[in-house]
Formats: sequence, C-alpha cells, structure tokens
Amino acid sequence: MTQPRLLVWVGLASGLALAFSAQADPADPSPRHTVIETLRASTAAYKDYMLNCGGCHRFSGEGVARNAVPDFRDSIGLFTQLPAGREYMIRVPGASQSLLGNAELAEVLNWIVATYSPAQLAPDFKPFTASEVGAVRPYRFDNVVVERRKLTDQLEQRGLRPAAYLYGVN
Ligand code: HEC
Repeated sequence: MTQPRLLVWVGLASGLALAFSAQADPADPSPRHTVIETLRASTAAYKDYMLNCGGCHRFSGEGVARNAVPDFRDSIGLFTQLPAGREYMIRVPGASQSLLGNAELAEVLNWIVATYSPAQLAPDFKPFTASEVGAVRPYRFDNVVVERRKLTDQLEQRGLRPAAYLYGVN
C-alpha cells in the first residue's frame, strides 16, 4: 500500500458513488429490504470500512486478486447462511484484529453484507451484534485457509459458489 491516504480519499469518493448507485428498489416495502437498507445507510460503518478495511478490500469491495484479498461482491453474504460462516467473518484476521470495537465491527460487517452482497444473505438473516462479535472474536484461527475451504465446500454442496479464495495458494 504505497499511498494509503490518497487511496482513502479516492475511495471515499467512489464509495459514495457506490452507496448512491447501489440502492435497492425503494418501492419494495418488505421487512428484509428495510433491514438491509438501514444497515447500508450507516455512515459511521461506511467510514469505518473505508478507513479500516477499504485499503485492502477496496472501496468497490472487489478486493485485490493479486494480493489474495477476496471479492466481497455477490459473495460475502453467502457466509451468513452458515453459523460457522458468520463466525468466520468475525474471526478472520482483518476483522478480528482491527482497531474497531465489537459494536463497530458488527456494524461494519452488516454494512459489508448489505452493500456488496444483499442478494446472498440468509433468508432469515439477523444483523451481527456486538455480543455475537465479542463472543468469538478472541479465538484466532490456527489456519484461516482450512476454515475457508471447509465453508466453501459446505456452500458448494448447496449449489452456492463464494468468490475465489487465493490466499495461501502461492
Ligand atoms: C491488510 C489487508 C486487509 C485489511 C486491512 C482487511 N482485510 Fe479482510 N482480508 C484480507 C485478506 C488477505 C483476506 C483473505 C485471507 C483471510 O481470510 O484472512 C481477507 C478476508 C476477509 C474476509 C473473508 C472473505 C472471504 O470471502 O472469505 C472478511 C469477512 C474480511 N476480510 C473482513 C475484513 C474487515 C471487516 C476488515 C476491516 C475491519 C478487513 N477485512 C480488513 C486482507 C485485509
């Protein structure tokens, strides 16, 4: 990351554009739609993402394939379909070891799924909470690659395909 400051500002601008362009159908009155819109509308979570995650995950959510940062788009919501997948999202190093408090991290994870992957969320999706985050966050994975592979297998058994995961491959 050569120019993090510049990247943050470029990102804030493109992220704003994204936030406005990615609005779901405002005519849809379903409770699920309302929940997703509310999570996505958090400007605090948006800023926390840009400053703490966006340098690697990018403001578009697409990650950086050559650095093995996976694409969140149309993918990260799939992990909410498995209890172990929710836990994985909290315990990955970039999330668990960030400087964010538990409530802030919960909000950022909610913002990420609502912004980049709402269509893939579990049908009964419940937002991440501070206590859920706090309960599993201290337990680091011995090997995050093995965990991701297990979850990918479980999702694929259901016919669901998360984004490519190149971390640890090379
Ligand atoms: C220094 C770069 C970096 C930062 C900063 C970072 N991440 Fe990551 N993130 C990665 C990499 C690399 C991976 C893939 C390896 C892994 O699973 O840890 C990843 C994976 C993830 C995954 C799993 C994605 C998948 O498809 O398996 C989630 C969720 C995640 N990060 C959330 C966050 C959140 C939330 C933040 C900010 C609080 C954050 N990350 C900050 C580099 C980063």
